[in-house]
Amino acid sequence: MMKCVVGFGLLFLGATAIFTATAQQEAPSPEQLAINSTKTRQAVFKLLSFNMGTINGMARGTIEFDAAIAERNANRIAAIAPMIPEVFAARDTREFAVETEALPIIWDRMTEFSEKAANLVAAANTFAEVARGGDRTATIAAVRAFGGTCGNCHETFRVD
Ligand code: HEC
Repeated sequence: MMKCVVGFGLLFLGATAIFTATAQQEAPSPEQLAINSTKTRQAVFKLLSFNMGTINGMARGTIEFDAAIAERNANRIAAIAPMIPEVFAARDTREFAVETEALPIIWDRMTEFSEKAANLVAAANTFAEVARGGDRTATIAAVRAFGGTCGNCHETFRVD
């Protein structure tokens, strides 16, 4: 009987240790959360850049013009861009030593920051519509206004 109690006691201790270890693993430090959030938003920008790169390449003539691909990529950008303000609003990383080009004023001027992301969505939708028309000249002519909405946010909110 005594052995049994000790056995259960050890089992209980073991289970507690495992539970504690798991709980610790599941609760990352505030610093780790800030690092993760920074990586997530940079991934959002990498995806935007990947899709924009093809369109810029078509404008420069380094990538063969394809209206359907231009339209598709613009639609993707319109779908991804709302994540910009979302991911910044979800975590303020100003107090942490993260590797970032994001300026701290983003969190002070969230409305203006969100507007610039909304401008990108609108420009992407407008561009997609032009590309849908299939006209090469008109589509290429529309690239600058579209891409300008990326730079317009970088000017104010990103390290030079
Ligand atoms: C609403 C503001 C905003 C808009 C719009 C915006 N960006 Fe950015 N972008 C930023 C900020 C802020 C950073 C810095 C992120 C960081 O380092 O944490 C950034 C970073 C980047 C990076 C570097 C990502 C990395 O690997 O660290 C690329 C590339 C980029 N943007 C491309 C684009 C492109 C292309 C567009 C348009 C299709 C765009 N951005 C639109 C604000 C914006």
